[in-house]
Order: sequence, then structure tokens, then C-alpha cells
Amino acid sequence: MTTASAPIEPTPYTPHARPPGRYATGQIVAHWTVVGLVAFQYLTGSGMEAAYAYALDFGTLPPSGHMWVHGIIGASILAAMVWRLVLRLRLGAPKPPETEPSVIKLLSRSVHYAFYAILIAMPLFGMAALWLKQGWLGWAHGVAAYVLAGLIALHLAGALWHAVKRDGTIHRIARGQTYP
Ligand code: HEM
Ligand code: HEM
Repeated sequence: MTTASAPIEPTPYTPHARPPGRYATGQIVAHWTVVGLVAFQYLTGSGMEAAYAYALDFGTLPPSGHMWVHGIIGASILAAMVWRLVLRLRLGAPKPPETEPSVIKLLSRSVHYAFYAILIAMPLFGMAALWLKQGWLGWAHGVAAYVLAGLIALHLAGALWHAVKRDGTIHRIARGQTYP
């Protein structure tokens, strides 16, 4: 026998405000856009590494498709993160569930802030590495790629924890507002 699930309450469309208890549509769109773009960076990272090694050896950039994709998508991530930062400062974010232990609240906030910092710093370091052809800038960018992977793993563990608890946290970043 199947039990009927509770109906989903439509959230009124509030273009210049964040509906209580969830993220605004723009924040949700930006979150998932950046997730998709970051995946491309890991796919093209090794191609970019090869192109960068060539540039350090010969002082000029090689004709590499991966390099262009990595650079253009990386720059788009920078733009999306700046947009996100503006939205976050203007609209804020919903409070974590009351049931959450304070150490988990602190960890989750720290991971969110770290995402903003690293996803803005990484493209800048990548561009500087290509422009100035300084090996340490590329090295710092490569280390940041591992730190980012660690943050993503922590964030996914958090998302899984909320999915298991079914406390609605996934819904607030997954469902937008209803247009009138
Ligand atoms: C948030 C955006 C970005 C992410 C997540 C990202 C991610 C990565 C990853 C995963 C690698 C491979 C690192 C390794 O295996 O050691 C890499 C390498 C590299 N990326 Fe990015 N990247 C981003 C933006 C950019 C941008 C905008 C540029 C320049 C236009 C750039 C330039 C480079 C360079 C030069 C390397 C080679 C570094 C080296 O070999 O030491 N990246 N990136
Ligand atoms: C590249 C991968 C990801 C990055 C960089 C990222 C980044 C972020 C950031 C910065 C926030 C805070 C909200 C904001 O200020 O905009 C957030 C919230 C959230 N993300 Fe992700 N995210 C990623 C992937 C994912 C994935 C794959 C899931 C899978 C379910 C997910 C689920 C969530 C949830 C549920 C929230 C809401 C947390 C809360 O309201 O406390 N994220 N994410």
C-alpha cells in the first residue's frame, strides 16, 4: 500500500527578497551552475597542467583546447562566485536546523565560507600563473585543487547526513520559488 506524501507548499515569488527558510531562486541557480562548472575544471585540469608546463619551458602558450576550456570556464566560475557573494550579502542564508549540534553548524558555515574564498582565489591564481609564468603560482593553484576536493567531500558528507535525517535542508537549495 502506498501512503500519500505531504503536498509541497508553493513558495510565493519574491524577486528582491529571500523566502524564509530557504535560498532565493538566484542563489539556487548559482549553486548548481557552479557545481556543473567545477566538474569541468577537474576534467580539464591535467590538460591545463600540460599546457602550463609547456608555457614555463618555452615561454609561450601552446595551442591547447583543454587550456581554453579550463581558462574560460574558470573565469566563468569567478564571475558566478562574485554574483553569489553579492546575493549572499544582500539576501543572507537560511538558519541551520535547530536540531543541529553547534559543532556541525560551525563546520558547515566554515565550509561554505571556505568555498567562497577558494572559488574566488583559485581563478585569480590560475590567471596570474599563466600571465606571469611563475611556477609557484601554478603550484599554489594545484594545492588549492586538492583542498577544494576535500571541502567538496565534507560538503557531500553533510548533504548526505541531511538527506538521511530528512530535515528539509536539501529542499531549500533544490527547489526554487513559484512564479505567479
Ligand atoms: C575555480 C576555478 C578553477 C578550478 C576549480 C581549477 C581546477 C584546476 C585543477 C583541478 C587543476 C589540476 C591540478 C593538478 O592536478 O595538480 C588545475 C590546473 C591548472 N589551472 Fe585551474 N582551475 C580553476 C580556474 C583556473 C583559471 C581561471 C585558470 C587560468 C586562466 C587556471 C589555470 C590553471 C593552470 C595554469 C593549471 C596548471 C597548474 C600546474 O600545473 O601547476 N585555472 N586547475
Ligand atoms: C562544487 C561543488 C559544490 C560547491 C562549491 C557547493 C557550495 C555551496 C555553498 C557555498 C553553499 C552555501 C549556500 C550559499 O551561500 O550559496 C551550499 C549550500 C548547500 N549545498 Fe552545496 N556545493 C557543492 C555541491 C553540492 C552538492 C553536490 C550537493 C548535493 C546535494 C549540495 C548540497 C547543498 C545543500 C543541501 C546546501 C544547503 C546547506 C544549508 O542550507 O545549510 N552541494 N553549497
